[in-house]
Amino acid sequence: MDNQEDRKRLEQSTRIVDALYRVVNFISYVGDLRRLLELVMDESKKVVNAEASSLMLYDPEAEELYFEVALGEKGDAVKKIRLKLGEGIAGISAKERRTIVVNDVSKDPRHFKYADEVTEYKTRNLIATPMLRGERLIGVLEVLNKSNDEPFNDDDIKVLEFFAQQAAIAIENARLIQENLKSERLAAIGQAIASLSHYIKNVISGFEGSVSLVDNALAQKNMEIIDEIWPVFKRSFNRLSRLVRKMLTYSHTTTPQYSIASVNQICRDIYEANKQTAEQANVTLSLALDENIPLILLDTDKIHDAILNLVSNAIEATSEVGSTVEIRTALLPDEKIVEINVSDDGPGIPADVQRRVFEPFFSTKGSKGSGLGLAIVKKNIEEHNGTIRLQSEEGKGTTFIIRLPLRIPESQ
Ligand SMILES: Nc1ncnc2c1ncn2[C@@H]1O[C@H](COP(=O)(O)OP(=O)(O)OP(=O)(O)O)[C@@H](O)[C@H]1O
Ligand SMILES: [Mg+2]
Repeated sequence: MDNQEDRKRLEQSTRIVDALYRVVNFISYVGDLRRLLELVMDESKKVVNAEASSLMLYDPEAEELYFEVALGEKGDAVKKIRLKLGEGIAGISAKERRTIVVNDVSKDPRHFKYADEVTEYKTRNLIATPMLRGERLIGVLEVLNKSNDEPFNDDDIKVLEFFAQQAAIAIENARLIQENLKSERLAAIGQAIASLSHYIKNVISGFEGSVSLVDNALAQKNMEIIDEIWPVFKRSFNRLSRLVRKMLTYSHTTTPQYSIASVNQICRDIYEANKQTAEQANVTLSLALDENIPLILLDTDKIHDAILNLVSNAIEATSEVGSTVEIRTALLPDEKIVEINVSDDGPGIPADVQRRVFEPFFSTKGSKGSGLGLAIVKKNIEEHNGTIRLQSEEGKGTTFIIRLPLRIPESQ
């Protein structure tokens, strides 16, 4: 007798330790509510040795229980089932905030048979227990059909109640995380709209100035004024169309249009096209190309655009007489990588700014920058499965480092 008692006690503590181990896993899934619910169902089934389990969440507005996840072939039909409080055993457990055990479902009129009909599942026995946070109802956890035709016992109830309590905490945390992410996203959208409106407002002011001057010129039939205003008008127009094009580029996910191209040639083109602008800004633009780089597959427009954005930023950042901006390429054959560096000896980027430079609409240039430049660079490079990072020291300068996989065309 004693022996049997001991064995029972040992079995019970083993099960509780097992339950504790299983419950600890809930925490790792709080970032993904669906997976968390699946895990709770799966683990509850195992911990009480049942054939199946189900989990209903409580919708406080409709005062109904519903299935957020329902697995198996009939999952979609099950998801349409909603139970009022007090309806079926789960509904009663929810309403009365207590665990209900039924060891012969066929004799219990409270059983909600419809769910069995939908799933074509025959429930013999079950435990339903409410998931509560204090007085607040989160949902109901059920386990169905104890294995080996046994009835559910007191230990099963205790373990499942403990499980339901832990699940309630994890579900609540998962929901809080979802809410936080949502408000963070909304805050980011708000910020983006604010900086975008600021930028557009400036361009529009440019337009307004030219429009009223053109009105006057037309009234006076004075072509000279129109000649003067027209370039200003075109500049504002170009800024606006560049912004819209950048926004389109940023918001569309496209796969690169690969063709055989020379990274060095792209750099040379950018160098030739920007040499003069750099000089006008007191900057010496220089090239240091690794001639060992073979022709590779890439989307020329996207890579051109990326390097050009880095060069423009570097020139904009360094306007001291005698400053330099260098475009450097290197082949890293062991790593099968082509590296493109754009470095300047400008003011550098403070650490708190470094963290944000790739964010869309982040700019320290006020109305002169849309803040989309580096966001597009990152997007273009990542679409090539490449990486971009930066090294910068305040007062010394900045280097942006692009790494592209060496995609050799098949014919080479
Ligand atoms: N070489 C650099 N030196 C110093 N700061 C830089 C450099 N490159 C980028 N930055 C910082 O990163 C910010 C974001 O750059 P990004 O190119 O995304 O936007 P932008 O240049 O401000 O605007 P846009 O490129 O749309 O006209 C810049 O406002 C600037 O503060
Ligand atoms: Mg820029």
